[in-house]
Amino acid sequence: MSKVTLIDHPLIQHKLTLLRDKKTGAKDFRELVNEIAMLMGYEVTRDFQLENVEIETPICKATGKMLTGKKVAIVPILRAGLGMVDGMLKLIPAAKVGHIGLYRNEETLKPVEYYCKLPQDIAEREVIITEPMLATGGSSSDAITLLKKRGAKNIRLMCLVCSKQGLEVVTNEHPDVDIYTAAIDEKLNEHGYIVPGLGDAGDRLFGTK
Ligand code: URA
Repeated sequence: MSKVTLIDHPLIQHKLTLLRDKKTGAKDFRELVNEIAMLMGYEVTRDFQLENVEIETPICKATGKMLTGKKVAIVPILRAGLGMVDGMLKLIPAAKVGHIGLYRNEETLKPVEYYCKLPQDIAEREVIITEPMLATGGSSSDAITLLKKRGAKNIRLMCLVCSKQGLEVVTNEHPDVDIYTAAIDEKLNEHGYIVPGLGDAGDRLFGTK
């Protein structure tokens, strides 16, 4: 069963409130999304494996800990997921970045993949999908299915705001995928927007509205 982790550190809650405010412009919005992603990154990577390494400090020999586990791939779902990438790369600069672009065919409601470029060794990597808004759960779930088809085995999903409905969809369809979020909001409106949410994350990131 998926583990859903709500990361509600005071700094994150503060920044998320600024993000929700409709008066926040694109420049501040972008900065806040990256800052929140970076702060969330501590918890998203908390279970990463460490190993002992021998080093020498200026004073004496010592045993330290270093990361040993799998390499990381950060995979934003286009386009809003891009907003969280730089924040995560600040924490994990050696991570590779894949991209997934999907849209829903409005008649069939089936996902159509229009772009997918992943690191070749995706099967060996710890995959962190970034998707600020988990609304219906449809595109996140489709992106996870697509990643699994391409060989990814260890996938976690990182969001800023989730709806309860979206969480239910992804946890039911992908019980092996853990989800990290900074907020769980009440509902979706008739247009599929999260309420209270923060509006259209892609438009607010890129100033397209
Ligand atoms: N996508 C967004 O950007 N915002 C929502 O509220 C729902 C989906």
